[in-house]
Order: sequence, then structure tokens, then C-alpha cells
Amino acid sequence: MKSYKVVTIGLGYIGLPTSALIASNAVKVFGVDINPKVVETINQGKIHIVEPELDKAVEKAVKDGFLTAGTKATQADTYLVVVPTPFKERNEPDISYVESATRGIIPLLRAGDLYIIESTSPVGTTEKMMELIYQERPELKDKLYIAYCPERVLPGNVMYELVYNDRVVGGIDEKSTNKAVEFYKQFVKGELHKTNARTAEMCKLTENSSRDVQIAFANELSLICDKADINVWELINLANKHPRVNILQPGCGVGGHCIAVDPYFITADFPAEAKIISKAREVNNYKSFWCAEKIKNAKLEFELENGRKPKIALMGLAFKPDIDDLRESPAVYVVNKVLENDNSSEYFIVEPNIETHKSFDLTDYKIAIEKADVIVVLVSHQEFKTLEMGAGKVLLDFCGSTTA
Ligand SMILES: NC(=O)c1ccc[n+]([C@@H]2O[C@H](COP(=O)([O-])OP(=O)(O)OC[C@H]3O[C@@H](n4cnc5c(N)ncnc54)[C@H](O)[C@@H]3O)[C@@H](O)[C@H]2O)c1
Repeated sequence: MKSYKVVTIGLGYIGLPTSALIASNAVKVFGVDINPKVVETINQGKIHIVEPELDKAVEKAVKDGFLTAGTKATQADTYLVVVPTPFKERNEPDISYVESATRGIIPLLRAGDLYIIESTSPVGTTEKMMELIYQERPELKDKLYIAYCPERVLPGNVMYELVYNDRVVGGIDEKSTNKAVEFYKQFVKGELHKTNARTAEMCKLTENSSRDVQIAFANELSLICDKADINVWELINLANKHPRVNILQPGCGVGGHCIAVDPYFITADFPAEAKIISKAREVNNYKSFWCAEKIKNAKLEFELENGRKPKIALMGLAFKPDIDDLRESPAVYVVNKVLENDNSSEYFIVEPNIETHKSFDLTDYKIAIEKADVIVVLVSHQEFKTLEMGAGKVLLDFCGSTTA
């Protein structure tokens, strides 16, 4: 008899909370991660990532014997693949982790097992993995349930959203969809929407591309308004008074591991068709470059007017307000670009949500504001909303933080 009901492969930001949630429903889960330190930490009932409520859930699940971790998969009824899907050079998706995780369980599969991919994946990945499985184990053809179910939780609220968010479940055939829905019903209270695997894969990519395109529209407006001498924040506020208009806010680009990444999973496969999606990526990337150029120009203008180099405060490094996550952050790009080939100016780099950074010396935001001649707001953190700037300082606010 199998000791475990569920094997989860990948115990990161999504895989570990998912494993803990399933285990908290008295279902025996075996979590697999190639990182032995992660495995060791979890088996001690501890966690290696920051996520509210996760520590208690993992501690209890391990103590009660419902969650165990290891570096190699074992037999179960259901296998969940939750490994990273980064992109390679030239913005092409890298599904090698999904493939390697799948190869690891192929010898363990038995007729009637359920295999689900949760990793954000390019369209057709689930079918590709099905082919791989049946190539290696032809005797199992049509005897497995194979499905795709993307994750759409918000970091910081994962333990709640895992239970209450609606989910899209797409099988490679109807019986696989139904089997996967039955599986998720055990611990999801949100609605489970049935579709096929390709649509479910595309749905996840669509959600994040839609956000990217909407932000690109706001960023494009900010470039136009800068040239036209119009306050973009006032403009958007006024346009949004229309009952059917809802424009998002511009910033110094788009970052994070989802919105700045997932659209490339579409553009790589459909370059001729994905015109707006591809352009949105371009506009959002260009906005970061433009911000860096604006800062360099402000620096030169200050020098011309005052006969000395300004001290510059670069406020914020995270990819969005009030978090400590710097992945794919446009603010980090802007700071690196501004610092490039400039050893002579004095910069104060500020990020109130982290203590240290591997490349930058950080300064407390109040000290930076007091000492700097030029203050650049890159992220709309709470702390920056009530900035008290002394007279004669230059402000470059790329996120409307001080006008909101
Ligand atoms: N983090 C999010 O907010 C979020 C939201 C929605 C979707 N996703 C998607 O979920 C997937 C997982 O993301 P994450 O944030 O949990 O990643 P993560 O980097 O936090 O964790 C992935 C884990 O998988 C492990 N791993 C890699 N290859 C493995 C293998 N072959 N076998 C076993 N373990 C392996 C890594 O060591 C790591 O611990 C990605 O496709 C991501 O795009 C993430």
C-alpha cells in the first residue's frame, strides 16, 4: 500500500503552502525538492520562505505526520508539479524543470494516478508532458488522469487565497478534468472552473499579460504627458471619472516574477500574432530606461545651475509598494543604470522593506531625504507618501506617490 496520497514536486513559494494546506486536511503529503537544505528545514517543521501563517501550518502538518519532505519522489495517487518556469535568453520559456520533475515520477506512475502541473507554463506543456510519460510508459496510455491547474495567489496572503480563490482546471480530456476537480474540491472553497489543458495554460498567461498591457497604457500616457506638459496623475484621475474607464497608474516599469515574465510565454510562441502583448513589454521596459535618462538629465541640470554635483536619493528598490521582493524589479534596473559609469556623485539608495542588499549600501529614508538635493521616487512605498521636502530640492516622482 502507498504511504502517501499526494506527492508535490517543488517546495517553494507555491509548492510548500499547497503541500501544507493539503496536509492540513488530514491527507498524507510527500513534498519533493532538489534542494536538501529545503528538505531538512521542512522535516524539522520549519520554513525557508517568508509567508504569513505558513510557519504554523507547516509545523503542525509535520508534527501530526501528514507532511514529510525528501529529495526523491515516492509513490502516491496524485502528483503535483510546482517547480519554477523561468525564461532563457531571448525571452523564451524554460520548461526543463517541469520536464525533469516529470521524469522523476515516470517510473512511479500506476494506472489511475492523477498528474497535475501547476507551474506557469507555455501553451501545450501539459500535452508535451503527457507524450513524454506515454513514450516512457506506453502500457499506461489513457490510464492516467493528466491536467493543468494554474496558481493565482498573492504573496503575503497565500494561505487564505489558496483556499478561497476560484481556480481554472483543465484536463487533457474530460475525465482528467473531472478527476482533478474532485482532487481540488478537498481543500479549495473557491469555485473550480472546468476547461481543457490548453485553455487553462493560456488563461494564466492571459491574466498577467492583461495586467501588463493595462500598465503599459498608463506608462505610455506618462511619456506623452511629459512631452505635452500635462500632469499624468491629474489626467488619469479625471479620465477615470468616466463610468466605463479605469486606467491604472504609471510607474518606473513593470517587475516581479509573473507580470514581467509570463507575457513572454505568449510572445515566444506567437510572435506574429502577439503584437499588443509584445509592444506592452517593450513600452514597460522602455519606461525604466526613460526614468534612468530623466535622472541623469536632472543631475546635469543641477550641476549647470549650482556649479556642483547634486546628492541624489533613489527611493525604493522593490518591484511594487510595501513588499521586500526585488525580483525583476524595474527600480533596481533604474538604480543600476544611473550608477553605471558614475563614481563621482553621491547617491543614497533607500529600501525601507529590506535590511541589506548585496550590491547597494542602503540609507534610512529620512536621512536620504534630508541630505539629498535630488529626490527620486521609484516605488510608492507608504513611507514616501508623506515626504517633507526642504526648500530648493528637486523631486522626480515616477509613481505619483507624493501627489496621490
Ligand atoms: N510565487 C508566486 O507568487 C507564483 C504565483 C503564481 C504562479 N507561480 C508559478 O508557480 C511555479 C513555482 O513558483 P514558486 O514561486 O513556488 O518557485 P520557487 O522558486 O519559490 O520554488 C520552486 C522550488 O522547486 C525546486 N525545484 C526545482 N526543480 C526541481 C525538481 N526537478 N524537483 C524538485 N524540486 C525542484 C526548487 O529548489 C525550489 O525550492 C512557477 O511556475 C511560478 O511561475 C508562482
